[in-house]
Amino acid sequence: MKLELLFTFCMRISNLIKVKQMKGNIIIKNASQLVTCSGFGAKHGSAMSDLHVIDDGAVVIENGIITAVGRTEKLLDRFNEAGFETIDATGKAVLPGFIDSHTHFVFGGYRVEEFSWRLSGEDYMEIMKRGGGIAATVRATRGASREELIESGSKRLDSMLSFGVTTVEGKSGYGLDDETEIKQLEVMGELDSLHPVDIVRTFLGAHAVPEDFQGREDKFIDYMTDDIMPQVANRSLAEFCDVFCEKGVFSIEQSRRLLIKAKELGFKLKIHADEIFPLGGTELAAELGAVSADHLLHASDRGINELSKEGIVATLLPGTAFSLKESYARGRYIIDQGCAVALATDFNPGSCFTESIPLIFVLTTLYMGITIEEAVTALTINGAAAIDRADKIGSIDVGKTGDVIILEFPSYKFIPYHIGVSCVEKVIKNGNLVFDKENKIGS
Ligand code: NIG
Ligand code: FE
Repeated sequence: MKLELLFTFCMRISNLIKVKQMKGNIIIKNASQLVTCSGFGAKHGSAMSDLHVIDDGAVVIENGIITAVGRTEKLLDRFNEAGFETIDATGKAVLPGFIDSHTHFVFGGYRVEEFSWRLSGEDYMEIMKRGGGIAATVRATRGASREELIESGSKRLDSMLSFGVTTVEGKSGYGLDDETEIKQLEVMGELDSLHPVDIVRTFLGAHAVPEDFQGREDKFIDYMTDDIMPQVANRSLAEFCDVFCEKGVFSIEQSRRLLIKAKELGFKLKIHADEIFPLGGTELAAELGAVSADHLLHASDRGINELSKEGIVATLLPGTAFSLKESYARGRYIIDQGCAVALATDFNPGSCFTESIPLIFVLTTLYMGITIEEAVTALTINGAAAIDRADKIGSIDVGKTGDVIILEFPSYKFIPYHIGVSCVEKVIKNGNLVFDKENKIGS
């Protein structure tokens, strides 16, 4: 790295350290809408519609934790504004920070050519089968240094933060060997301690079959369960374990074997389920008591019913369906069956190269039959539930972490209406202002 670049990088990191360590005291008052999304667990079915909005609302954050929520007039009687940073949110809506509960944001290289191939009609899975797709990102990620991954990862987190994301889930899965899988997870750990955005880590070693294991998929699963997963568990490098359960990748039987071992090792479970072919990953998620089942483009009625019964979060990723030109998951039906739906970007270099929350909102509301209120729930409290954090984040409730966003408009309804453009003006993380569009903080 050139000296100048290194200096800029160190400055950036030292700024971030400062932000991450502080736990702030802040009062946000006069919000035209305080959209609390109040709750401490996943919201199922019709409960997703109630955002618990307080008109002319205020929120008090002390030492990074929310200590009071209510109407401004009532609340300010109880608090002396001296000692607090105060933000006047007159004419603006205030919401919990968004939770992007499914991403693959740490990777080397890009797959810009692949996008053009797909534009000219080539199929995502066919590209993968001939050594492109995920395999191409595996080669680039194996070749990338930790510093390079931290630098690109940090820039991506900056961008997510500007969209109002305060917690992100990140998966490994571009190593497929112990060295690189662990490198990816360690990089996410470092980014978590350096960057204002919090990171929840997922081990996705079974993301594709590497070249040296082609035709020996069961041996690869053995390698995962007997070699890498125990290392990841012993060093607490990931909280969740995920698998790409898909026709031509890992079968139901292989996925089941891997996830049962993961559970024994103490991981919580996620599954890339029924994304491209209706294989039955949704039912498997229910059978194993996963925290979430993700994608669900081809989930069966029975699978959806089982998710609802077992209280498993259905994580829908409309950006991926859009980018792959596939039909969207049956969002309306899934909510009507009583499921708790979360929405996420699936940010990755192949099937969905976007961290744009406004894009997710507009696709969901225009094409999946999901209302704006349900979409807000899906990106806040239900996103938190998808990473098992609904008791700590995802709503503006007393006792929760002080992660709050302020829009430049008076209503949350502007989010999808302003098509593809971010309405987020300010982001408060742990009670600190970490992004401000007007004053160019954090950008
Ligand atoms: O969620 N389906 C598998 N994994 C990602 C895509 C990863 C990639 O193409 O690099 C997904 O779509
Ligand atoms: Fe994914």
